[in-house]
Amino acid sequence: SKDTTLSHLLFIHQGVHYPVTMCTPETFQALDAFEARSDDVVLASYPKCGSNWILHILRELIFADSKKKYDFPEFPVLECGDPGKYQRMKQFPSPRILATHLHYDKLPESILKNKAKILVIFRNPKDTAVSFFHFHNDVPDIPSYGSWDEFFRQFMGGQVSWGSYFDFAINWNQHLHDDNVKFILYEDLKENLAAGIKQIAEFFGFSLTEEQIQTISAQSTFQAMQAKSQETHGAVGPFLFRKGEVGDWKNVFSETQSQEMDDKFKECLADTPLGAKLKY
Ligand code: A3P
Repeated sequence: SKDTTLSHLLFIHQGVHYPVTMCTPETFQALDAFEARSDDVVLASYPKCGSNWILHILRELIFADSKKKYDFPEFPVLECGDPGKYQRMKQFPSPRILATHLHYDKLPESILKNKAKILVIFRNPKDTAVSFFHFHNDVPDIPSYGSWDEFFRQFMGGQVSWGSYFDFAINWNQHLHDDNVKFILYEDLKENLAAGIKQIAEFFGFSLTEEQIQTISAQSTFQAMQAKSQETHGAVGPFLFRKGEVGDWKNVFSETQSQEMDDKFKECLADTPLGAKLKY
């Protein structure tokens, strides 16, 4: 059984909690000096919004576009790992994929200055919370929560790893119409994967045939990715590709919790472009 004491598994950096097994204060310090390139491919998301799905699609798009296998030996989340990571990344050929769960305002300055293209994937907050809860409780070296109710309280209060879903959404919402930013929804991708992949390819300027789009689409379904998850993601694979559905929150939320989240959603995002588009 795993340790459920949260306090020694999370540390606070600039008011936000991070898991000590994934991030360190030294890495955050080193990140400030990270040197971005204008052709870096950036993927921003709150945790559990489908980043591994998009990362897979991006690698396939780069392979189809350039015939170069994308095979960089670093954990894809920019702010995770040891502080020497950024020095090593200088050797990687372009295009590099940089995933991040940080707010726009907390990205290293060079990413903003260089106007690297940033894709932001959002998922409805209820399914995101349920996915995050299961992830914490399934994966051995991150904190567990005693119950869903306890996790829900901490999620709503923004005390979970990487902070508040709502703060993340409010922050990115201010940049969704920037020239170098594009946002997509998990739910839209579920509805029409090939159309989503085509939009992502166009945004980053990858040129692909219709047939290539269809092939990538077939390889990127939940079923296809889940079947290969151990091969692609090791022991954590099965936890990363858990259910892959829209609406799983209905199995977990109480009515009061659902109402509380609806209210919070309205308060934070109702009159915004993101609020208008998010579905659940
Ligand atoms: P569930 O826990 O609801 O199943 P992230 O990669 O950002 O950690 O997000 C993980 C979530 O994305 C998990 O949600 C996972 O199943 C889902 N996911 C991963 N690949 C997917 C795919 N190809 N299609 C649909 N959902 C996918």
